[in-house]
Amino acid sequence: MSRTKFILALDVDSFNEAMELVKELKGIVDIFKVGSQLFTSCGPTLIDAIHDEASEVFLDLKYYDIPNTVALAAAQACRKNVYMFDVHTSGGTEMMRRVIKSVSENSGERKPLIFGITVLTSMDEDQLAGIGVQRGVKEQVQLLAKLAQECGLSGVVASGYEIQKIKRTCGHHFLAVVPGIRPMTAIHADQKRVMTPRQAMEQGADFIVVGRPVLEAGDRKKAAQDIKNELEQVGPD
Ligand code: C5P
Repeated sequence: MSRTKFILALDVDSFNEAMELVKELKGIVDIFKVGSQLFTSCGPTLIDAIHDEASEVFLDLKYYDIPNTVALAAAQACRKNVYMFDVHTSGGTEMMRRVIKSVSENSGERKPLIFGITVLTSMDEDQLAGIGVQRGVKEQVQLLAKLAQECGLSGVVASGYEIQKIKRTCGHHFLAVVPGIRPMTAIHADQKRVMTPRQAMEQGADFIVVGRPVLEAGDRKKAAQDIKNELEQVGPD
């Protein structure tokens, strides 16, 4: 079994579409990611339905608010028994520390993993400067990753190209969740900022997040199985 876990982004609009994917792919995918699109449409009953299929949930709502509010949201994520959830590290150290405390006080048998968002991959240097951040993207990512680690978060969501530096700065046990994954068959010469599942794994990804390469495939089960095989280094049939 691969040590890099496969997260499928359930980026669909409805409960039925999401549960069809969960039922079809639960033997292949390790964790199902519920983001703001689906959560806004279906709410927390979807989390229960995914658990009823003996599957795990990454609640990807990227919390960003005052410490008290985020701590209360984290308590609800614990009560929902999600496997992992995330917060924006730019919410600050007090916010992150309150989240850790809230998780300790409110989780049952197991604690959810807590991940930090550093700099959104949609932000470049100009965008950062536009909101008053003078540091470059790479430096800002490192700074926020280090703060997240000092506050006790489990890891960060990061590009495959940032993992090695983050692990050098924060240590090997600080986990990396890596989106921007494209399977070998979908890689085109003009796509430079994506990685194959295998490349991300070799860079040290603990989790990969995949959405459209599976959701938009003609045969979703095969697309998911190919990714799983790539992680487990099994050749194509
Ligand atoms: O591009 P793809 O469809 O594979 O994206 C899958 C997921 O990765 C989306 O749900 C998106 O929100 C998430 N993502 C992320 N952080 C990024 C880039 C994408 O969480 N920096």
